[in-house]
Amino acid sequence: MKIVLLGYMASGKTSIGKRLSNGLSMSFLDLDDYIIEKEGMSIAKIFEEKGEVYFRLIENKYLKEILQKEEDFILALGGGTPCYANNMDVINNTDALSIYLNGSTATMIERLIRKKAKRPLVASLDDDKIPEFVAKHLFERRPFYEQAKMNIKIDGKKKKEVAEELLDLLN
Ligand code: S3P
Repeated sequence: MKIVLLGYMASGKTSIGKRLSNGLSMSFLDLDDYIIEKEGMSIAKIFEEKGEVYFRLIENKYLKEILQKEEDFILALGGGTPCYANNMDVINNTDALSIYLNGSTATMIERLIRKKAKRPLVASLDDDKIPEFVAKHLFERRPFYEQAKMNIKIDGKKKKEVAEELLDLLN
């Protein structure tokens, strides 16, 4: 089984992916970390030096590279991955199970204000600008996220609880 976790920034894709990988004894991959390793540069540096368009191009290239692997894995995407190129089609045309970690706008605003520092799209925004940014961004992005084969609500749940709920559903 291949599992692809997707959702907005700070929805817990990486932490939940690691927990699932322990629970299911499957290897874990994080697309952002894969990009960092292949490019030898942090995501923030790639955005700064090469720009977002370059980032979206290589994000699509490395996503396809990972999906072609023979072995099973759990893959955490970046928050924007589903929304560029034809990435959702690429994912859903494989036998991978795509899962949307679905948080309400209010939940994602609250989480992103706490966790914006390492995220180049929001790091320079003042906290009072985050609510409008997230509301607009989610309005644009949700139609892509909702193409996932499975959708799990994360509002009011700890990452551990979401991982346990998923393990119950998958076992
Ligand atoms: C992005 C999300 C980030 C990273 C990049 C762009 C986005 O991943 O891929 O900063 O467009 O939402 P996380 O969702 O892990 O923060």
